[in-house]
Amino acid sequence: MKTDNTDINITKEGKCITLKGWVAKKRDLGGLVFIDLRDRSGVIQLIVTPESSAYEKATVLKNEYVIEVEGKVVKRSSVNKSLKTGEIEIEVSQIEILNESDDLPFELSNPTALEDTRLKYRYLDLRRNELQNNLLIKHKIMQSTRSYLNNKAFMEIETPILCKSTPEGARDYLVPSRVNRGSFYALPQSPQLFKQLLMISGFEKYYQIARCFRDEDLRADRQPEFTQIDIEMSFINENDIMMLTEGLLAQIFREVKGIDIKLPFERMSYEKAIDIYGSDKPDTRFEMPICDITSIFENTDFTVFKDVINNNGIINCLVVKNAADKYSRKDIDKLTDFVKIYKAKALAFLKYNEEFTGSISKFITDEMADSLKTLLSLNNNDLILIIAGNKKMVKTALGSLRLKLGRDLNLIEKDKYNFLWVTDFPMFEYSEEEERYIACHHPFTLPANVDDLDDKEHALARAYDVVLNGYEVGGGSIRIHRPEIQEKVLQSLVFSKEQATKQFGFLLEALTFGTPPHGGLALGLERLTMILCDTENIRDVIAFPKTASASDLMSGAPDVVSKKQLDDLYISLK
Ligand code: AMO
Repeated sequence: MKTDNTDINITKEGKCITLKGWVAKKRDLGGLVFIDLRDRSGVIQLIVTPESSAYEKATVLKNEYVIEVEGKVVKRSSVNKSLKTGEIEIEVSQIEILNESDDLPFELSNPTALEDTRLKYRYLDLRRNELQNNLLIKHKIMQSTRSYLNNKAFMEIETPILCKSTPEGARDYLVPSRVNRGSFYALPQSPQLFKQLLMISGFEKYYQIARCFRDEDLRADRQPEFTQIDIEMSFINENDIMMLTEGLLAQIFREVKGIDIKLPFERMSYEKAIDIYGSDKPDTRFEMPICDITSIFENTDFTVFKDVINNNGIINCLVVKNAADKYSRKDIDKLTDFVKIYKAKALAFLKYNEEFTGSISKFITDEMADSLKTLLSLNNNDLILIIAGNKKMVKTALGSLRLKLGRDLNLIEKDKYNFLWVTDFPMFEYSEEEERYIACHHPFTLPANVDDLDDKEHALARAYDVVLNGYEVGGGSIRIHRPEIQEKVLQSLVFSKEQATKQFGFLLEALTFGTPPHGGLALGLERLTMILCDTENIRDVIAFPKTASASDLMSGAPDVVSKKQLDDLYISLK
């Protein structure tokens, strides 16, 4: 079997060796031919002199030819410190061309090649060192996960890919059944119900590196098929799961990155996260909290703010420290356009320099000025950006603006890993699309207090998310283990008894047979890998990803199928 080319080093000086790989680069210096030979481990330099019997062949080599060479390890006159093999080169005596290559559709070294072209030829793009390294990191995360959980007596168990559709959350991908005319399987959005059933079976400690499928709008950190590190345990509480997860993440960071992360992770309630950061996945790598200044404007003459307060709205702001001189009127107009994406009607601003200037300065009385200075601890040259309106909009818009400012002003330290548990999530959230309350986490999460279920606005769930640098990298909950509570929660979600039985009857029945108290969590493997690879694009950590429209440009999936295939499935297209 071939060894890695970069295992060759100065200790092999004078030895004759055989190497195989791809021609990454060839330089013909009219007399001497230099070749960078690439394999999965990296690059090694070959040199072919006119005296070598391999010289003729060396001159015809082109990029990406696959070759086998024989030669002698020699010391380089000048060391290339950026290469692992930089101290040596191989004086080639023989070359065999194992395969030729057409010109590639894009230069592997050209970072500006269109992503669509790269995706069409993904197998070529994957030759790049950067993508190979990303997949290596993902591999190491998976190995580290398995070793950690195996050592803690967890068992890896596979669950089905062809499942029953239990639509709650994202849309399902459906698979028609040929044998059962007119019936469909769904691909699992997560192994949620199966892992709970495994607890009922008595396995107590389960994990799976599980493929999940969700037909939802894609974003930079979302793919239609992705992978979860899925965990479930019996006879535990939140702390057990949090400590286990913290230990797992600490081991992954140590083994993959050589970094010791700080334990235990900070914990923050959902309410506080929304109040201060306008997000349930706050990026705490920089300050700039959202401040509530509603009370300062209680007696304002400014009709816009007055109306907002009269309608139970709020007035909140961000203080951008020492930045007033950096933002012209035009810059603030651009920020205004940005917050309008989040339905803010306007972005008011004040600049502080002993006194206030800015769009609403004429409404600032001396008393308000003093209160603002004290409440916001203002210094000269501070910029205050204000949004007024209903709470949800104000928090979301300022939370997004905060992240934009953090990036624009370079406030985020590199190589910083801020872990955080967000706890005390609401049990329900109102879905404008479905015009009803839906489960905030999922319908199998135990409510903090069963008696609160009727107060859908305020009922809390025993759910928790683990957040890293502004990404939700995982989420979980303590589950309902009593059938009557499960029925009650399903009813609160406006499932009739019949509907609940039809969709979740097997679970409701299973819960009646001695179900242990249990709970768990799932980490998004790709999100974690993205952060460890320092990329914001989830496609960079998946070997064969989909585009934003969920297609595979390489194979052309999804595609039409033949009439015969449809007939076999009793399907006719509208
Ligand atoms: P949840 O839906 O929060 O929980 O998913 C768990 C984690 O999976 C990741 N994730 C995704 N990653 C990439 N693309 C997607 N489309 C995508 N959707 C989710 C996120 C998320 O935190 N059954 C529960 C877990 C549990 O309760 O144990 C569940 O699936 O990082």
